[in-house]
Amino acid sequence: MVKVLFVCLGNICRSPTAEGVFRDLVRREGLEGRIAVDSAGTAAYHVGEAPDPRAQQAARKRGIDIGGLRGRQAKAVDFERFDYVLAMDRSNHRDLLRICPTGQERKLSLFLDFAPGQGARDVPDPYYEGGFDGVYDMIEEAAKGLLADIRAKHL
Ligand code: 4NP
Repeated sequence: MVKVLFVCLGNICRSPTAEGVFRDLVRREGLEGRIAVDSAGTAAYHVGEAPDPRAQQAARKRGIDIGGLRGRQAKAVDFERFDYVLAMDRSNHRDLLRICPTGQERKLSLFLDFAPGQGARDVPDPYYEGGFDGVYDMIEEAAKGLLADIRAKHL
C-alpha cells in the first residue's frame, strides 16, 4: 500500500479538498487497494471540524463529497506512517520540516511540484481570500501528476 498524506494549515480547506480529489481519482483508476489517502493540518485550530462549507461546495460542484472528513493535526509519526507527505504551500513545508524525524525528509514535497505546468509552488490559502474554485483546479491538476509519479515509482 502506498500511503499519501496531504497537509495544509487548518485541514479544513485545501488538504481535505486534495484528499477528496485524489481519493476519487484513485477509485476511478481502480487503485483503492493500492493507495491510501489522508489529510492533516499543521495547526490545531480546527481539529474535529468538517471541511469549510465553501470547500465542500466547490468539491460538490465537481461531484466530490468531502463532508464526512474531520480535521486533525499532523504529527511526527505521520512521517513514519506515510510514503508521501505533501505540503500545500511553502509555509506548511517549513512547519512540517520542524516536526519531521531525521532521515524522513525525502518523503516531504510541495504538492504543486507534481504540477509543473501550473507555474506556482503554493496552493493559495483560500480561507480569508476566497478563490475556492481556482484552488480546486490546481489541486485536480497536481493530483494527476502525483498519481503518475506513484505509478512510475511504486506500481
Ligand atoms: P486550509 O485553510 O489551511 O486550507 O485549511 C485555512 C483554514 C483555517 C485557517 C487558515 C487557513 N485559520 O486561520 O483558521
